[in-house]
Amino acid sequence: MAKGEGNVGLVRVGIVQERNEPGPTRYHRTNRDRFDRARSEQRRTNEGLPSGSTLSTDEFLESTLDVWEISSESAQRIGHPAPFPVALPERLINLYTFEGDLVLDPFMGSGTTLVAAARTGRRGVGYDLDPAYVDMARERLSEPPGHLFPPFDKKILDIAVGALTSAGFAIEGTNRRVAGVTVPIIARDSADARWFVDVTGGFTVSPGGLATTDGVLRSLGKAAILGRESTNILLLTSHLPQPATEAGRILKETHGRLFVEALEIADDTTPAALRALAHR
Ligand SMILES: C[S@@+](CC[C@H](N)C(=O)[O-])C[C@H]1O[C@@H](n2cnc3c(N)ncnc32)[C@H](O)[C@@H]1O
Repeated sequence: MAKGEGNVGLVRVGIVQERNEPGPTRYHRTNRDRFDRARSEQRRTNEGLPSGSTLSTDEFLESTLDVWEISSESAQRIGHPAPFPVALPERLINLYTFEGDLVLDPFMGSGTTLVAAARTGRRGVGYDLDPAYVDMARERLSEPPGHLFPPFDKKILDIAVGALTSAGFAIEGTNRRVAGVTVPIIARDSADARWFVDVTGGFTVSPGGLATTDGVLRSLGKAAILGRESTNILLLTSHLPQPATEAGRILKETHGRLFVEALEIADDTTPAALRALAHR
């Protein structure tokens, strides 16, 4: 029997992919036991080896579920017929290795595992029979990690404040109560207009923030209340929903009515979008 959400146990992971487009792909763990690293943190410290874990408690608990739901990657976008979503190797790397470790993918394809290694502060090495895929992996790895991959130890609120400030907003306050709800960020644009910025999600591997129906409805409920005070409402999130999901449809339908824009913080188009909003 599959372990449902919220049930916690210790497992060893084998992964089987189930295709269920559209929406998140489901990955089933196939055998269970414990999450074991080859050497414990203590033993690694004693041996002078890297021993810094980057696995948060929340992520560990999520990892113990039998079914991992992770948004699938588009073969067309990546240019490889069967790319993993980065989130999948990222979770496994966080579970089984330490910062600074060396991760090997002997069938690297477009280099997803190496991207995940870079994103989690590991070194990566990979090979592939097809030289075109090796070039593709090199190119993916040459992208500046800063905007694509926010540092895992930074809180999403700090990242959002940084992104708004760089775009030209002045921060008036964080976590302020307005009309009975908490507003993560209040900012002023270049014309001194006041913006309410809802910040949701976190940089764990499973989609949170606005990727779920619950997340979207929570943000929109807040936006409906705040709309009485100002129509300048911006939603910043770690994960936007896939367009064909319920959350995606709700967000599209309410775009421009309950909020001005919903942006994924780590998306490389977000800095320009924020600049346009700050100076409109
Ligand atoms: C399923 S794909 C991996 C996709 C990869 N995880 C990604 O996200 O892009 C498997 C890859 O293994 C490569 N491959 C197959 N046999 C190989 C071998 N003997 N040595 C090295 N690479 C091989 C293929 O060219 C293909 O790109």
